[in-house]
Amino acid sequence: MAKKFGYRSRAAFKLKQIDERFGILKNVKNVLDLGAAPGGWLQVVAEEIGEDGFVLGVDLKQIETLGFKNVETIIGDITSPDIIEKIREKFSRKFDLVLSDLSPNISGIWELDHVRQIDLSTRSMAIASDVLNPEGWMVLKVFQGSEFNRFVEEVRENFKYVWLFKPKASRRESAEIYIVANKLKR
Ligand SMILES: C[S@@+](CC[C@H](N)C(=O)[O-])C[C@H]1O[C@@H](n2cnc3c(N)ncnc32)[C@H](O)[C@@H]1O
Repeated sequence: MAKKFGYRSRAAFKLKQIDERFGILKNVKNVLDLGAAPGGWLQVVAEEIGEDGFVLGVDLKQIETLGFKNVETIIGDITSPDIIEKIREKFSRKFDLVLSDLSPNISGIWELDHVRQIDLSTRSMAIASDVLNPEGWMVLKVFQGSEFNRFVEEVRENFKYVWLFKPKASRRESAEIYIVANKLKR
């Protein structure tokens, strides 16, 4: 299906379904995508925001050129202390939307993978709090497990509006769910 539509990942359809439900890509111009490789979400965002928009993708892995003028990428670790500096070198204003579809390397030990993923999500939220404009949106993939409710509470402490959403394109048996949040509490 992803191949048929020219997307690099099946994840592209999940973002499209999140957008259909919440309209996160309407009226946004500047987007940061954390854990962006191989680039399916970048493709969806680049199509929606138009040529005057800008989307910056960050990943540990190199993202092969997508052929859009409004996309830039950096190779980087979102847990490293200098990541915000690296992001600002590419875009010094505030973003309208921060996306995070981060997954750790899956060990197969469920509780370990869950905790590692929550650590990445915690870091994504810290980055979002720093680089988002106060009216902005954040979308985070989270693996459900023992730390999930505590983490959702943490998101609620930082954002005025918080929703949980499982797109149809996400396998029913998968524990992933997306947190959609809007407007920083300041
Ligand atoms: C499920 S994939 C993202 C798929 C992407 N949304 C798409 O549509 O193509 C998760 C990504 O998170 C990245 N990742 C995991 N840990 C990371 C970290 N600490 N810093 C940056 N990227 C990381 C992985 O390299 C992987 O490419």
